[in-house]
Parts: sequence; structure tokens; C-alpha cells
Amino acid sequence: MNDISPIALRGSFPADFVFGVATSSWQIEGESQSRGESIWDRFAKIPGAIVDGSTGDPACDHINRLDEDVALIENLGVGAYRFSVSWPRFMPDGRGAVSADGAGFYDRLIDSLLERGIQPSMTCYHWDLPQVLQDKGGWLNPDMGRWFADYAHALGERYGDRVSMVATLNEPWVSAYLGYAAGVHAPGEVKSAHALEVAYRLMVASGLGIRALRDSGVTNPGLVLNLTTVRLDQPGAEAAREHIDLLHNVFFTDLLAGRGVPEKLIANTEAITDWSFVTDEGLDIAAEPISWLGVNYYTPLRVGRPADTQSDAVGQSLAAFPGVPAATTRPKPPFTTMGWEVDPSGLTATLRDTARALPEVPLWVTENGAAYADHVVDGEVYDPDRVSYLRGHLQAAAEAIAEGVDLRGYFCWSLLDNLEWAEGRTQTFGIVHVDPQTMERIPKASYEFYRSVVTA
Ligand code: FCB
Repeated sequence: MNDISPIALRGSFPADFVFGVATSSWQIEGESQSRGESIWDRFAKIPGAIVDGSTGDPACDHINRLDEDVALIENLGVGAYRFSVSWPRFMPDGRGAVSADGAGFYDRLIDSLLERGIQPSMTCYHWDLPQVLQDKGGWLNPDMGRWFADYAHALGERYGDRVSMVATLNEPWVSAYLGYAAGVHAPGEVKSAHALEVAYRLMVASGLGIRALRDSGVTNPGLVLNLTTVRLDQPGAEAAREHIDLLHNVFFTDLLAGRGVPEKLIANTEAITDWSFVTDEGLDIAAEPISWLGVNYYTPLRVGRPADTQSDAVGQSLAAFPGVPAATTRPKPPFTTMGWEVDPSGLTATLRDTARALPEVPLWVTENGAAYADHVVDGEVYDPDRVSYLRGHLQAAAEAIAEGVDLRGYFCWSLLDNLEWAEGRTQTFGIVHVDPQTMERIPKASYEFYRSVVTA
């Protein structure tokens, strides 16, 4: 089979389709001593919490290599760059005063993108909560929504006239269930009732953030979710499949659509929580209309009957799904090094289902990419698996558009090999290799491939 050419691939998207590349603050910035402490700095100190003992320093030393990194984005030829603001860098005490140095860093980033004709796409919160707010209860504190909205308002006032898109949160499912149920992400709690409550409170916080952003003059506020199609792999696992779909997808799209918390989910989790933290006012706020929805897609979920061994795919432990009946997640090869099944058709299905759940909302793929083990040979990195992953998923995105999905753009994850959260430096998603010792950047073959598509 011949691979589709970059020109044909580009041609399968509308002329005004936006191609971009994405990163997040804690994963690349480094220089933790020049900002407030985040929950990920604290979490990284727990022995074993991060597999290779990595901490937030030096990450990719992006704070000191801004010009070099913006040049990499410019040479890639993309029209947009998705980054996140480190809350503890912008507002070191979590509330109140804005740090001149911290805020100035993002001014420089945004201005240098604009000078090069690259649209800045800003995410307010990509998991690096100020530790001072965690000390007040974090996302379980009913006041957190208001504090988040104040922070979002300050970001909107400072940058709103210069950024094309603003997302409130990145992947609240991950914050809630990996952070509070599976306990493999900061803050590392294992308490299902708290995970369900945090998921709800995050969605209320996002709604308050959307209102605050609009109030500050931002015209294009949205939210980023990690949605994915949940497949039945074996008969007998129907109830588990449905439950995982409710927690992972339907809960979020139903709240956004104003349908409230799904009755079925409430019934399935009655042994865990009575959901008494849900209020009519909160539901109304969570349904605040968004201007766009970002979908981060990497892999489908596949659910089968219980078995003696559980999948070791990152983030797919059943502990992340409170209330799920006995089952297994059963990804099928081919795998990335995350243990994630590679299935581009899952992206088309996810976009199709999301468009059906939220018919009026323009969609963006805000993250998509793959971790593979790379090797530097003679100063070059040849990564054919990542090229084929990207090609397949770009085709799958184009397929969704052909089916009528209102998809406006696609961001590749990620620009740089970075700190992959609890996996530390052991999982490399970059289209640019970063030497962990010297910080030298080497664009991989996948960078050249992506450039050939977006500039075709
Ligand atoms: C997503 C995160 C992103 C990165 C990728 C691999 O869940 O948003 O920061 O870790 O997974």
C-alpha cells in the first residue's frame, strides 16, 4: 500500500484548517525556583511517584531557551502553538498578586509567536496547581472554582487581546481520576468519592472560568477534554464498557450540554457517593456555553471480561474508574511504548460521537501523538513509527471532516521530548528530541514529515 503524499494529505483538509503543535508548562519549563511550588513539584518528591525520579528541573529548560523553541515552531511551519500557563509562575500565591517576571515570560512567548504569524492558543490550567491552594483542599474546596475564575480573569486581562483561543482546563478526567482515584498523578490520593467530586467541581470551575474569561474580553474561550471511544472487546463486559464510557465521556459532554449528571452514573456509584455536592447552580455554571471544545485523543479504550492479569497500559488501570464492575482493559497491538493501542479509526469515532453529543460546538484536536523509543544515530533521529502514527491520525481527522464533523484544527503532541508526568523522561512524545543532559534539540524525521504536510 502506498502512503498518502503530504500534498494529498494536506489537500484532504479545508484551506483554512489550522495545524499546530502543543506543550504544557510543567513538562517543559524548568526553573522551578523562579516560581511558586506546584502540586507536581511536591508529588515528584515522593519516592517512586515518578518512575525515573525526574523532577520539574530542568525539564526542557524552556524558560531559558524560549527563542530556540519558538524558532523550532516557526521552522515547522505551523499556524498555531498550544501552550499552558504555569499558575504558580503567573500568580505564585495562587491568588492575588501577579508575578511581574512570571507574567513577562508569557508576554515574550506570545509576542514572539505573533511576530512570526503563529496563533497563540493558551491553556489556563494543565495540572500544575499552586501547592498553596492544594494546602487549602485543592479542587475539593468549594471555593476553588472562584479562585480559578479570578486567575483566569487575570490571564484574560493580561493576554486576552493577543491569544486566539483560551482553554480553561486540560483534561479534567485525568486530574480527577488519576489524581484522586488511581493516585498515580498529583496529588496522589486514592479515594473514589473524592475523585467523583473533583470531576464535578472541575467542571463547575471551568464554567466559572469561561464566564470570567468572557468578562475579561476573551471572545473564544473553550475547554479541553480527553475523550475516547470505549469499545466492547468481549461479550459479558457490556456493563463495564458502559460505565467506563459514562465516567470518561458522557459525564463531561452531558454537563456541558446542560443534561446534568447522568442518572445511570449516579445509580452505578451509589455505594461510593450520594452526589450531594451537586447543586442546580453548579449544573447551570458547568453548562456555560463554550466557544469550542478541544479533544485530546491517543488511543481507544477496549473493555473485556475479568482476567487474572490487568493491562499495564499507562492510565488504563481499573482503579481509575470508580464503581466499574469486574472487567479488564485490553488494548490490542500495535502499541506505543505507553502500552497504548494505535487505532486511528478511534479518532474518527471519537470526533463523530463528540459532534453528536454537542452538535453546535466547533471541535479541535488539541493533542494527538505517540511515544516511541528513539535513537540518535549520527546526530539524527529516524522515527518511522511516529511518522506513521501521525499520518494515520491526520487521515482519520480528515475522514471526520468528510463525514461532516465541524473540526477546525489539529495540534500534534508534542513539540519536545519532555517530562511525561509520572513516567518522567522514559516516554518520549516529541517530534523534536531533547537530550536529557545537554538539552540539545534535534528535530526528528517526524518533525520533517509534519512540516511537509502543514506547508504543502
Ligand atoms: C495527555 C496530557 C499531556 C501528555 C499526553 C501524553 O493526557 O494532556 O500533557 O502527557 O497526555
